[in-house]
Amino acid sequence: MQTHEIRRRFLDHFVRAGHTEVPSASLILNDPNLLFVNAGMVQFVPYFLGQQTPPFARATSVQKCVRTLDIENVGITTRHNTFFQMAGNFSFGDYFKRDAIKHAWSLLTSSVEDGGYGFDPERLWATAYLDDDEAIDIWKEVAGLPDERIQKRGMADNYWSMGIPGPCGPCSEIYYDRGPEYGKEGGPEADEDRYIEIWNLVFMQNERGLGTSKDNYEILGPLPKQNIDTGMGVERVAFLLQGVDNVYETDLVRPVITKAEELTGRAYGVNQEDNVRFRVIADHARTAAMLIADGVNPGNDGRGYVLRRLLRRIVRSVKLLGADQPTIGELMRVVRDEMSPSYPELATDFQRIENVAVGEETAFRKTLTSGSKLFEGAADTVKAKGGKVIGGSEAFTLHDTYGFPIDLTLEMAAEAGLSVDEDGFRSLMAEQRKRAKDDAQARKHAHADLSVYKELVDRGPTEFTGFAELATEAHVLALISGGVRVPTAGKGEKVDVILDRSPLYAESGGQIGDRGVITAAGLRLHVDDVQKIAKKLWVHKVTVEEGQVTEGDVVLAQVDANWRHGSTQGHSGTHMVHAALRQVLGPNAVQAGSLNKPGYLRFDFNWQGGLSEAARNDIESVTNDAVGADFPVNTFVTDVTKAKQMGALALFGENYGDEVRVVEIGGPFSMELCGGTHVAHSSQIGPVTILGESSVGSGVRRVEAFVGLDSYKYLAKERALLAGVASSLKVPSDEVPARIEQLVERLRVAEKELEKTKAAAVLSSAGTFVDKSERVGAVRLVAAQAPEGVSGNDLRTLALDIRGRFGSDPAVVVLLGNADGKVPFVVATNKGAQDAGIKAGDLVSSFGPSIAGRGGGKADMAQGSGTDPAGIAPGLAALRSRVAEVVGS
Ligand code: ALA
Repeated sequence: MQTHEIRRRFLDHFVRAGHTEVPSASLILNDPNLLFVNAGMVQFVPYFLGQQTPPFARATSVQKCVRTLDIENVGITTRHNTFFQMAGNFSFGDYFKRDAIKHAWSLLTSSVEDGGYGFDPERLWATAYLDDDEAIDIWKEVAGLPDERIQKRGMADNYWSMGIPGPCGPCSEIYYDRGPEYGKEGGPEADEDRYIEIWNLVFMQNERGLGTSKDNYEILGPLPKQNIDTGMGVERVAFLLQGVDNVYETDLVRPVITKAEELTGRAYGVNQEDNVRFRVIADHARTAAMLIADGVNPGNDGRGYVLRRLLRRIVRSVKLLGADQPTIGELMRVVRDEMSPSYPELATDFQRIENVAVGEETAFRKTLTSGSKLFEGAADTVKAKGGKVIGGSEAFTLHDTYGFPIDLTLEMAAEAGLSVDEDGFRSLMAEQRKRAKDDAQARKHAHADLSVYKELVDRGPTEFTGFAELATEAHVLALISGGVRVPTAGKGEKVDVILDRSPLYAESGGQIGDRGVITAAGLRLHVDDVQKIAKKLWVHKVTVEEGQVTEGDVVLAQVDANWRHGSTQGHSGTHMVHAALRQVLGPNAVQAGSLNKPGYLRFDFNWQGGLSEAARNDIESVTNDAVGADFPVNTFVTDVTKAKQMGALALFGENYGDEVRVVEIGGPFSMELCGGTHVAHSSQIGPVTILGESSVGSGVRRVEAFVGLDSYKYLAKERALLAGVASSLKVPSDEVPARIEQLVERLRVAEKELEKTKAAAVLSSAGTFVDKSERVGAVRLVAAQAPEGVSGNDLRTLALDIRGRFGSDPAVVVLLGNADGKVPFVVATNKGAQDAGIKAGDLVSSFGPSIAGRGGGKADMAQGSGTDPAGIAPGLAALRSRVAEVVGS
């Protein structure tokens, strides 16, 4: 039975039993604790916990799931897929154990004709949680299972949770016995490769808290209701019903192996080592495609890292199967063809999926070869010394220089019978991270030692007053110069000023620090920049313009109002471009960074490949329409969960506190977590002009734009430029394109004319060559250099024209050109010369070597080209002697 049919029958069975069919959720749901959706029930968690009222009492779904914990087992066991489909039925406080068991049993054992799977009931086993005698009784009663085919198991096997806090409960699993040839007797307790788990029925009734493992977590108490959550492994049922050996050989996965056989030229099923590689390729290609479809991009941590690791394992497995060419694009195509009937996004988004996967493949292939050499060298050295451990520094170099994820190095080491000094590797990584951090701080603060600020940081954060006012009275808490506290600073000095409160914005969230002044009677400090230390201390970098500043002074800190006006335009403009970008490109255009200041913004986002001009124009017009709509800008503070529920965009990987500020422009149009300063109405942003779009590293694009008055100035400059062009062309501006097109066309025609004239001039020189011909015996020989620049067809036409002018007299024409340092040549003979034994093709060997030439031809005509113009004269001399030799004179 085909996989698509297995899915269909499952859903139909439960819809007939009063369940609502619910589509699969994305692999990525908004739970920061869950890397990927790993069970059918994940999208229903709020219903189980009683946080939301379900719109139905019974549901059924086939959920996409990814589990990568067992990635090392892929291809080695019969049943581990990193991507799989979990078919499930759910009851939210409706039916419980008895009906769950009944429904499952009837689908599994009903005949194929009756819409079931037709499993032999004699081969099915069940397990139950230790104290769940109720379930055991139901199994006996409803399914007629004998005692010996029901086993009790402990918490690790028969008490289910998502692995994180949430709903949980005892469960009962159904196993299929593949028969004695697959392992020992004794049920699932004895052998899980012979007895394959196909369906898990969870009697969801408690809520769990934190814990350390599957059988060690706190049970917080009962859920509001008793529920049912089941999960049937579609791939497992498929491999059993299709009579194949494992989950990699089912109708949907095996075609990828077949494609890999074709691409690598090796056969599947020959040896275990290669089999595992083929299965890894098939499994991972499918998972990677599904992840990319749901918006994951390769990266160095979290979800991105999992994807990167999968793609790199494919590249490496392909290589180990002896193939050297890129393969991922073709593999992805097979995945698309097999899986898109159930997951149409694979077809509609294929271009993006392929681009992402191939991009990663290309990058990794470049380093894999050199990295592998380094690894092998290191492994040989270790072995030669009788050692067992690859050093941490080698693993670090492989990571740092060659992009080998540590897991890859660990796997390669294991294959070579070695281990890796992981602690050494991690400490080098930590050192590198610290170095990078120090460097970044040092760039901002000119010295890396922040201890001078410690006391001030401990005292408490600088109070930011700048959302409400532009001028604030404040106390000078400290002055810092060259990394040390100083009591005072005088005219002309540059010093860091720490105030207790400040209206000046300190650089963060992409918005650069405010400019302004700090004044008191007889004192004026110009604020050149404002930075944050430890996220809470404002450091005003100032130049003393007048007077002397002293610790303890009472001052007035003021934001330059013009600057602030510009920076609010820049920052709000950034939110607008971000929103427009997502509207035009879709939610996969995820923010990767930004910078904005008065008049200018740039926005980086994850995206493969450049943007078309049409997309750029759309982004610009959506942005300016939204600006023109004069949306009100609302800011409010809420907790992070609420903000995310409302759909506010947060920077991936950013740590937000419990309280967050949300900036909302035009309701759903743009909503982001943001601490920056903004305009009050979108029209205050002014025009936004996108300057261009470029690449800043693999898979990250950047758009840059001018905002407000700068946007106008830029457009005015462009207009002046156009006016200049128009006046040179002597047409009104709007006729410039047509005029240029016309000029280009005229130029093309003129160039063609010129070519023709040149060719005619060349041909008219034919007579001169005839006049200058030599006599060698009875043969007339033209052995000459063609006029400068004559080559290709012209050279040939000229040679043939000269030959024609000799009529029936035996004639040989050899022309050597000289064009751009090349020596094109043509040899032509007529019938008379050929009768005298002269063949055009044979003559090439006389002058060819002198001009480093290559070419040849037949008796009447030969041509080719050389690369050494210095050999023309000696070449022609050699040719003459050859002709004389053949003619015998
Ligand atoms: N949620 C249960 C599982 O994943 C059905 O096994």
